[in-house]
Amino acid sequence: MKEGLRKIEIDLGERSYSIYLGYDLLPQRIADLAGFSREKEVFIISDTQVNSFYGKRLEDLLLQQGYQPSFYLIKPGEEAKTWDNAEKILDVMLTKNLSRKVPLLALGGGVVGDLAGFVAALYKRGIPFIQIPTTLLAQVDSSVGGKVAVNHSRGKNLLGTFYQPRAVWADLMTLETLSMREWRAGLAEVLKYALLDGREFFLFLQENAEAILEKKPAVILSMIEQCILIKAEIVQKDERDEGLRNILNLGHTFGHALEKATNFQKYRHGEAVAVGLVAALKLAEALQMINSVVVAEVLCLMQKWGLPFSFSSALVDDVLRFLPADKKVENQEVHFILPMGIGEVVAKKGIPMEIVGDVLKQISDIV
Ligand code: NAD
Ligand code: GLY
Repeated sequence: MKEGLRKIEIDLGERSYSIYLGYDLLPQRIADLAGFSREKEVFIISDTQVNSFYGKRLEDLLLQQGYQPSFYLIKPGEEAKTWDNAEKILDVMLTKNLSRKVPLLALGGGVVGDLAGFVAALYKRGIPFIQIPTTLLAQVDSSVGGKVAVNHSRGKNLLGTFYQPRAVWADLMTLETLSMREWRAGLAEVLKYALLDGREFFLFLQENAEAILEKKPAVILSMIEQCILIKAEIVQKDERDEGLRNILNLGHTFGHALEKATNFQKYRHGEAVAVGLVAALKLAEALQMINSVVVAEVLCLMQKWGLPFSFSSALVDDVLRFLPADKKVENQEVHFILPMGIGEVVAKKGIPMEIVGDVLKQISDIV
């Protein structure tokens, strides 16, 4: 294996697949397509921004290896993750009369990956699907584990299924064009993994905080690999999110409500997760479940990375109102994942909403 290239296996029986992680790995990986399908046609979903950077290169590589690529481009951003877009894409695929063996490649961030995976699951009852994640968030999280979905006006990811990709090709080279804002948003999910995993990874992030902001290749390779390994272990034990996998929602119960309260306009998903992590830490602190020193340590790293840890107090009521709209609701009780330390989380329901409201007020509008 080439130096700096990592291969991580996701062991899910007949739905198993490999994740490749490294710099400029697409030229080698295109040859793997033959193992997934004998079709020469390849359908690619991307967004216009990612396509402007990497579409031509992917197209050339596919053409060089005898494939006939065709692209469907969506507008960048969360607003594109809709049923309406899924239907439009399916319509184009049907018009092209693509076979049920045609490979579908998702070139982009989590929006493209979630939407493309959803389409791949539906088209003729499922076609081979390959994730080519181009954001940090997509490389450490959304491209792994087979959750695919579109949003509904009533909430995020409400229409979806589990559909594992046949492979994930995470090219670290693509991260070079990612804006600092998107990079930071991805770091929120990285921090989530450290809180789930334990001290060792958290220390690695603390010690390399600067190098991570500078996207130093060896450091970010290890960082992304570790996140994928953590997610892989969880997904392998609970592929369909019936128990353990819920812990991946750390920071997301608040995060999703904040995204919804701001109509998906103000925050990047990872930014909302960052605020959600603060809310989870502070709620755990208010319930005396976590040591305040640990909370301060995590907030310090977030500050170093420039992650948002507050939000407008004008939004508190809306965030509270949207909390129960989260999928994690059971019997109308909001189900929170709360940290008890670094590497220790617990699922908790039945927390009085007055306490939740107080915590949200406490973290709103602090600068
Ligand atoms: P995104 O896909 O919207 O990408 C963010 C922005 O970065 C877009 O404007 C995009 O055009 C641009 N971009 C992408 N790659 C680039 C690159 N290499 N260079 C320059 N610009 C680039 O957002 P995201 O943060 O990647 O993903 C968020 C989505 O992921 C949300 O919809 C969220 O719900 C979903 N998600 C899904 C899972 C899952 O398990 N399926 C997990 C976490 C998040
Ligand atoms: N990002 C949550 C999950 O994959 O389960």
